[in-house]
Amino acid sequence: MSPVDQRSKKDRVFIFDTTLRDGEQCPGATMTLEEKLQVAELLDAMGVDIIEAGFPIASNGDFEAVAEIAKVVRNATVAGLARAGFADIDRAGEAVRQAKRPRIHTFISTSPVHMKYKLQKEPEEVLQMVIASVTRARNLVEDVEWSCEDGTRTEHDFLCRCVEAAIKAGATTINIPDTVGYTAPDEYRALFRMVRERVPNSDKAIFSVHCHNDLGMAVANSLAGLEGGARQVECTINGIGERAGNAALEEIVMAIKTRNDIFPYETRIDTTQLTRASKLVSTVTSFPVQYNKAIVGRNAFAHESGIHQDGMLKHTQTYEIMTPESVGVSKTSLVMGKHSGRNAFRAKLEEMGYRLSNNQFEDAFQRFKDLADRKKHVYDEDIEALVDERLATAHDRIKLVSLTVIAGTRGPQRATMRLDIEGHQVTEEAEGNGPVDATFNAIKALVPHEAVLELYQVHAVTEGTDAQAEVSVRLAADGRSVTARGADPDTLVASAKAYLAALNKLRARGERIHAQHAAE
Ligand code: KIV
Ligand code: ZN
Repeated sequence: MSPVDQRSKKDRVFIFDTTLRDGEQCPGATMTLEEKLQVAELLDAMGVDIIEAGFPIASNGDFEAVAEIAKVVRNATVAGLARAGFADIDRAGEAVRQAKRPRIHTFISTSPVHMKYKLQKEPEEVLQMVIASVTRARNLVEDVEWSCEDGTRTEHDFLCRCVEAAIKAGATTINIPDTVGYTAPDEYRALFRMVRERVPNSDKAIFSVHCHNDLGMAVANSLAGLEGGARQVECTINGIGERAGNAALEEIVMAIKTRNDIFPYETRIDTTQLTRASKLVSTVTSFPVQYNKAIVGRNAFAHESGIHQDGMLKHTQTYEIMTPESVGVSKTSLVMGKHSGRNAFRAKLEEMGYRLSNNQFEDAFQRFKDLADRKKHVYDEDIEALVDERLATAHDRIKLVSLTVIAGTRGPQRATMRLDIEGHQVTEEAEGNGPVDATFNAIKALVPHEAVLELYQVHAVTEGTDAQAEVSVRLAADGRSVTARGADPDTLVASAKAYLAALNKLRARGERIHAQHAAE
């Protein structure tokens, strides 16, 4: 069914997820191919309608990621982004070729400031490029989306002419992005009403919202755009994206579900997967989710004050507008210990939304047992850290084998580290100004590299002094930065894991990390 036919179904809103494109574009959120595949599979399973998998012309890695995602996604449409040039469009067409439902998403700037300074083109020239680009894309795929970049700062007459021309050339979705996060709900709602009224062929396309969060209004603006007649929302998990991010998928979906009286739309999202998706994206990008983040923040369903707790005990609806279960937060997070067996662990993983292969399960179970030996209570968060970290590092070429650190009041502190580098084990000892410094110096001695440490952050996965530490490390090299996490009950081991995960990510991005060590 084409998107235009689908629109006739009453008030269905299509969820277009751009975590893997606009989300991945923000500094430090780089994902490896395996990570992108994991995210795409989860988005598909949770009912996302369109997955924007990347910007194929940007690099060979981006092209490969879009092409691989196109092969594995079963239900969703897979979109590849392209500027208006033919090379971009052809590359996007090639990347999505194997998708069950391929889409090319092509865009060009239409605002005076972008046309004058960025494109250095006259409006008439831009209009001709709109027609040519959409026509080119339409020759490759049936499903073509056209976006007017900086749409909310575009002059209305010109916007309407471009939209009409794009639809005439074959675009089936028209996206009017608030590229710089400048609009406000009333204005954005009115913009969609105006375009839909004034453009004679507007009934032949689905209109789409795409909001950035520079003024903190991305979700409110997106919902207002729906009220103005848009029926596709472009958004990202956890709201990650350029600068202040994009509209958060989980917030839009739960606003529609919880306030269906005022947002009478329907999405196909299985909301019980939202927490899982949030955690996966946070793990693979290593972007922490703020504690008070709506829907998926750690505190989103926590009631601390006495008055609130009292109200909750009397009736949950006193302070809860949606249930934790509806977004996939399990009722109790205290789960298991060292006496828990295989079956209980398997059931727990299933309940948490994991689908592991037999080998992955055996590996996870072994590591769960090791953790349970060291930690009295194993919580859901511990299991998540343990499984997600393994999934994220499954293809790493540099792995930590062992680490011993001598710390204390008398320096210098010393770290002895053993690594497995592409199957060869190597050991090194290093000193440092503190145990973390010594640990990182040992890595530098074993894997010489130019990358600069931009961020080092530690937090506890759960409560208690035996809690696992989760460490985030950001490394930058050659103008690119990657962030990675590592978890372990030992903070120094977690630090080493996080640093190595970041190095592996840089390496996967084709950076030149020299792991020139002879095998011992
Ligand atoms: O924000 C924006 O304008 C975009 C376009 C490429 C759709 O991301
Ligand atoms: Zn954007």
